[in-house]
Amino acid sequence: MSANTVEANRNRFRFDDQAAVWLFGYGSLIFKADFPYIERRGAAITGWSRRFWQGSHDHRGTLEAPGRVVTLIESAGSDCKGMAYLVSPEVFEQLDFREKNGYLRFCTDMTFDDCTQARGLVYIATPDNSAFLGPASESEIARQIAAAAGPSGPNADYLLHLAESLRHLGDHDAHVFEIETQLRLALA
Ligand code: BEZ
Repeated sequence: MSANTVEANRNRFRFDDQAAVWLFGYGSLIFKADFPYIERRGAAITGWSRRFWQGSHDHRGTLEAPGRVVTLIESAGSDCKGMAYLVSPEVFEQLDFREKNGYLRFCTDMTFDDCTQARGLVYIATPDNSAFLGPASESEIARQIAAAAGPSGPNADYLLHLAESLRHLGDHDAHVFEIETQLRLALA
């Protein structure tokens, strides 16, 4: 699948009669909400794990030196914590463009911090997209992140922001925190 998903996403969902839709964010959407939203709540989705397995040559890297950003990998029984935003459907056009490098919208159930639930959308970069890099050890991932930067800034800033945001949410994401440890060593 081509990494540019703008057209695919436009045809994926019809919002017809919906005035507002919940969007679950697990990566940069947690710390960079540069879109209008009606409401924001801590939330989690079940059956997925966050992994730095997606390549980024448009935001946090270049074609010559791609960075790594997060996607979700199916993982039975795992919870992924993040931030849910209630947005008007028009916001997805803006987000489709921002996250055009391989991310498709999927439907998901989400559980808010107060244990109530809602159905909404989440962006996931699946292994069949051409920018997908897949697994590597946390230290290899940290080395790649340390060396990458793109139009949105250093890849290291993305990782450090995400780790800090997850601490604020009370999440302990072992994968992210181990990369953070390794990255701090690589940058020292
Ligand atoms: C997110 O934070 O949910 C997200 C991350 C990368 C691409 C799209 C969405």
